[in-house]
Amino acid sequence: MKKTLLLLVTTTAMTLASTGAELLTKKCASCHMLKAPEFHELPTLKAPAMDAVVFHINLAMQNEKEKKAFIVDYVLNPDASKSVCESNKVAQVGVMPSQKGKVTKEELESIATELLSTYPHKKFVAMIKEMQGNDKINALKGSPFLVNSEGLPHMTKLLVHNWDKAKLGLTAEQKEKLLVVRKETMSGVKKIKQQLKPLEDEVAEAMIDREDPKSVEKQLEQIATLKLEASRVHLKCIAETTSILSEEQVEFLLPFWE
Ligand code: HEC
Repeated sequence: MKKTLLLLVTTTAMTLASTGAELLTKKCASCHMLKAPEFHELPTLKAPAMDAVVFHINLAMQNEKEKKAFIVDYVLNPDASKSVCESNKVAQVGVMPSQKGKVTKEELESIATELLSTYPHKKFVAMIKEMQGNDKINALKGSPFLVNSEGLPHMTKLLVHNWDKAKLGLTAEQKEKLLVVRKETMSGVKKIKQQLKPLEDEVAEAMIDREDPKSVEKQLEQIATLKLEASRVHLKCIAETTSILSEEQVEFLLPFWE
């Protein structure tokens, strides 16, 4: 009696385990890549690779039960406001079409278990970490700002990533005001960057040609003035943005600001 029960339990568990992976291939792989994506494959994907999906879920949630419930719910009732991926990326590929009628809640439970135990692959996490590191270096290289500490965030970028999130809960009125700030900031910084480029090139060229540093003193001063101006635009953007947002919204965007 005991033996049969044990056998039954084991076979059930085994069926479930294989079913999760099979279901994932059958129901999700037509859109989501299941293997770890290569860097060059990323721009052509029509949906985020499963590695990216679970990577984002893990960033947004700690609790396994919550993660599982999120997956089950999202597949049946997808919505940009619930998404854990960046709002601009979701807008780019379009919100996932609901899979209601194509997959059951029970099937999704085992798919979710499979997803959370298999993803993200180590190789993918390493690639993302490297990409993020490169992004940081490039941002710093192209930065016209005097202060680039972590404490001075790029509000426009943060907002683009979280624009549609229910947890941020931007009202239509806030969005309208924020778009004005965004436009002013972007055009202000762009204009300064365009002026900076030739000045910086002149300084570099003078040094390559072994010229006296004094010969580019004027350019240096112009660069300093432009960077000062860009920093003022940056600070104004932070001040205006945070004055449009509520305390809770600022806390959501900048948890390290407390
Ligand atoms: C018809 C194509 C398609 C199919 C089939 C599909 N997905 Fe998606 N899925 C997408 C797209 C596109 C996105 C990105 C946009 C978004 O997040 O809504 C996405 C995003 C997701 C997300 C991330 C949600 C977020 O936070 O942005 C999860 C979780 C997800 N899919 C799970 C699944 C699972 C599990 C299956 C299989 C049952 C599945 N998907 C099948 C197209 C699809």
